[in-house]
Parts: sequence; structure tokens; C-alpha cells
Amino acid sequence: MPSILCAAWILLPAGARVRISSPRRGLQARAERKPKPHNSVPLLPGGAGKYEIFMPRPQRQRSTPEGEHLPVMLAEVLAALAPHPGETAVDCTLGFGGHAIELLRRVQPGGRLIGLDLDAANLDPVRQRLAQVGGTYSLHHSNYAGLAGILANEGVLADVILADLGMSSMQVDDANRGFAFMRDGPLDMRMDPTRGRSAAELLATLSQAELAGAFRDLGDEPDAEKIAAAIVAQRSHKSVQRTGELMKLIQEAAPVKVAKGPGQPTPWQQRIRPVARVFQALRILVNRELANLEHLLRILPECLNSGGRAAIISFHSGEDRLVKQAFRDGLRAGIYAAVSDEPIRADFAERQRNPRARSAKLRWAKKPN
Ligand SMILES: C[S@@+](CC[C@H](N)C(=O)[O-])C[C@H]1O[C@@H](n2cnc3c(N)ncnc32)[C@H](O)[C@@H]1O
Repeated sequence: MPSILCAAWILLPAGARVRISSPRRGLQARAERKPKPHNSVPLLPGGAGKYEIFMPRPQRQRSTPEGEHLPVMLAEVLAALAPHPGETAVDCTLGFGGHAIELLRRVQPGGRLIGLDLDAANLDPVRQRLAQVGGTYSLHHSNYAGLAGILANEGVLADVILADLGMSSMQVDDANRGFAFMRDGPLDMRMDPTRGRSAAELLATLSQAELAGAFRDLGDEPDAEKIAAAIVAQRSHKSVQRTGELMKLIQEAAPVKVAKGPGQPTPWQQRIRPVARVFQALRILVNRELANLEHLLRILPECLNSGGRAAIISFHSGEDRLVKQAFRDGLRAGIYAAVSDEPIRADFAERQRNPRARSAKLRWAKKPN
């Protein structure tokens, strides 16, 4: 059974992960356990042990052991949304259906679930899981930015709406999707592989300034300019097509001088940070993640019934800032009757049990009755 990773988790060798906390506040990468580097080779002559490139392993490996799927902050989501029998619930980001199943259960009898995902490959597995619960549900291969149209077609408004942002581990686990730098594969990164431009296409066509701006603004990469320059120099004779090529290029353009001493992240964690930051920036760019979220936040009120509730789980500060601002503006304008004051975080037990939950922030908003 596949499991879900959220936006902020990037696969590392031997199952360890780097957590990206924020594109603005600085990226604090933390591996959960000390990885065993594979195929490490010296980057600079005589620099072995100081600067190293970690080559991606070619074989496919799962990010999370089977059966370990844990939807993030499930109890908190259900408390915020308070789904009731007979209501219409929308899950904008089905993933593996962890939240959707519980929403469907709680709107029974008489209610319905409407589920969306940008990635059509997620729909069939979720459909099979929902069938075990029964009840009424419809699943759509759609961007959540198109939610208003879907609800209009179904002739309903929602009582509860959930968006759990980011990517799923099914996407990360598949080397052919190009999300994970530790899995060599084509640089695609599209959550919906049927449309839009892949990461390789963006790397081949954006100007150096555009690339640098993306790495800086979406990844908070201090060496954004150097990395963008290296990509542009490389593509003048051969385009960057694979995750492994990009990883190597980043590590050559922005070699990390490892800081030693108590409290320092491990050398491996320090070396992998620029790669994680650039991959995150590219993924956000490829999938227009901030623009989609802004659109969803604009249409949320018109998608909700009176008294309707919305909850959004985000994984980096760029997203959380958008949610916070939209909910606060909505409260001030009387569009919402109440919103969460502070982001809700996973409790200690969940953070221990499920490292994916550590960077998650949940905010909710409620429309007037
Ligand atoms: C973190 S996973 C959701 C996990 C899910 N809550 C669960 O418990 O199984 C995020 C999912 O959102 C989808 N997604 C990302 N952006 C989207 C968008 N703009 N519209 C619809 N789905 C999107 C991804 O394809 C991914 O499957």
C-alpha cells in the first residue's frame, strides 16, 4: 500500500529525507537518520572528504514502507471541519485518500464526497479504497483551481473543503516522475503529466535571470545565481534531462563547505541542501503551486454553503502566508465568520510517529450561518 509524503519531503538515500521548512526563512534540512552515501566521488581534486557528490541510485526504491500511510493531522482536520451526516465534503487533494476516506465515513448516511487530484494515477486506487466505505462519492481528475466548475456541474455547494498541499509519495516513489533527486530519472516533475511544461523544458527555455529568481524566491537558495549560470552554460552544449545530471550540476556549481562542531547538521545533510532547495523550487514552478493555491483561496467562499468550513494544510511558509492572509482578509470582510488565529501544528506524538507532519501547518475558516 503506498503512502503519502507531503510537499516538504524529499527522498534521500536509504529512506532518509530532507525537510524543507520554508522558501523564505531559510531551508533547514534535517535528515531523520544518518544516510549511507552511495557512490560518493570527490568533487574537487584532492577534496575527498570535504566536498563530495552523492550520485543517485538508479534502482527504484519506496519512500515509505508499505502500510505506513498516515494522513497528516487527521484528528485536527476532522475537528476543524466537523463533517456531519448528510453533508457534502470536498477533498481537493486526494493523494492516497487518507483524509477522503474519513470524510466520506463521517458524512454518511446521506452525504457525499467529491474528490479531486491533479494526478489521474491517484484516482483508481482511491476509488477502490472508498468503495470499501460505500456511500456516494465522485472523483475528478482536476486542478483544485477548477473546483467552482466541478461543483456547478454536480449542482452542489460544499459544507466542508480540505486541501492537503504538496505531492504524494506515489509521485515521489516513481523515478520516472522526476520528483526525487536520489532516484535517477527524467526531469519531469509534473503532477499532471498530461499538460504543462516539464522541469527539463523549463531548464532548457527559461532565462538565466528567471531560473535564478525561481531558485532564490521559491527555494531560498543562496547560490541561485551560480546554479542558474551553470545550467545555462551546460545547456549551450547539452540540455539537462535527468535528475542525476541536475543534482551533479548543482553540487558542482554550489559546493558546500561542511561546518563541523556540536549541533551542526551532518556533513551529508549540509551537502544535500542546495539540491533539495533547487528541486523544491523547480517543482513549485513546474506545477504553478502558489498560483493554484491563490486561485483556490479566491474561490473558496463561493464554493462553500452557509456555515461551511474549509481547512488547508501547508508545508512551507510561502503557502502558509497565502492561506493566513486570505483567511484574515475574508474575516475582516465578513466573508468568514471565524478563522484559526494561529496555525495548528501536529502534536508531539504525531511528529514522533510521522515525520512528515513536522512541518505541516493547518489553518481553517468558517463561513457565517
Ligand atoms: C500530500 S498529497 C495528499 C494526501 C492525502 N490528503 C492523503 O491523506 O492521502 C497531495 C496531493 O495533491 C495533489 N495536488 C497537488 N496540487 C494539486 C492541484 N492544484 N489540484 C489538485 N490536486 C493537486 C497531488 O497530486 C497529490 O496527490
